[in-house]
Amino acid sequence: MPICYITRKEHFNAAHRLSRADWSDEKNEEVFGRCANKNWHGHNFILHVTVKGEPNPETGFIIDLKYLSKLIKKEITDHLDHKNLNLDDTFMFGILPSIENIAIQAWNKLEPHLPKGSLHCIKIVETENNDVTYYGE
Ligand code: NI
Repeated sequence: MPICYITRKEHFNAAHRLSRADWSDEKNEEVFGRCANKNWHGHNFILHVTVKGEPNPETGFIIDLKYLSKLIKKEITDHLDHKNLNLDDTFMFGILPSIENIAIQAWNKLEPHLPKGSLHCIKIVETENNDVTYYGE
């Protein structure tokens, strides 16, 4: 049977700061640059969730995209949208909120709710120049 890959895109707006409490202000600025700004900064993040599988012979769907959208909102974006990723008790609490770590956390939250082996990748777009993709490896 043919395998297809289908992607659902969702948005969330959030503030964050990249810094380590165990580093000096100077070192944080040196490593993280403007992302270490003490007074936060925000992004209009875009989340792409790609699921792979064989289209169902009756529906032609790999997965119902309305269902996938609701699942993404419940497990991921409701916890991130309009939050401060460092301060609010979202699923990034206590984790350095780089886009790499957001993608890994999003995978960990979503993967158990999908058919085994069907989650292909999670992509987080931070700016038009920067995005990251996680394949669960
Ligand atoms: Ni940033």
